[in-house]
Amino acid sequence: MSSFLKVATLGEVPEADRGLVVEAFGRYIAIFKVGGSFHAVDNRCLHEGASLGDGFLDGGIVTCPWHGWQYDLASGACINNPKLKLRTFPVRVEGDDILIEI
Ligand code: FES
Repeated sequence: MSSFLKVATLGEVPEADRGLVVEAFGRYIAIFKVGGSFHAVDNRCLHEGASLGDGFLDGGIVTCPWHGWQYDLASGACINNPKLKLRTFPVRVEGDDILIEI
């Protein structure tokens, strides 16, 4: 059974460039604001495990801060290796709160 959990408030997610890393459901999840919407993905880079929340955000693509692998935040797809995909999580906004589903 899935459930939504409040993980942050709107003001905690950076407006640009970076993400916010939260701990929920026993894992670290990076939340990014892209335009007017939010995306949540596993925070761990599939290359060597860097924190993607500390990566560089540009137009829905996050670039890993260690070696530059890139991910499409909407799908989780790794641009450098089409066989790899980050786990993504549905995001819901309720008032000032950001909730994710796992
Ligand atoms: S750890 Fe992310 S590209 Fe190497």
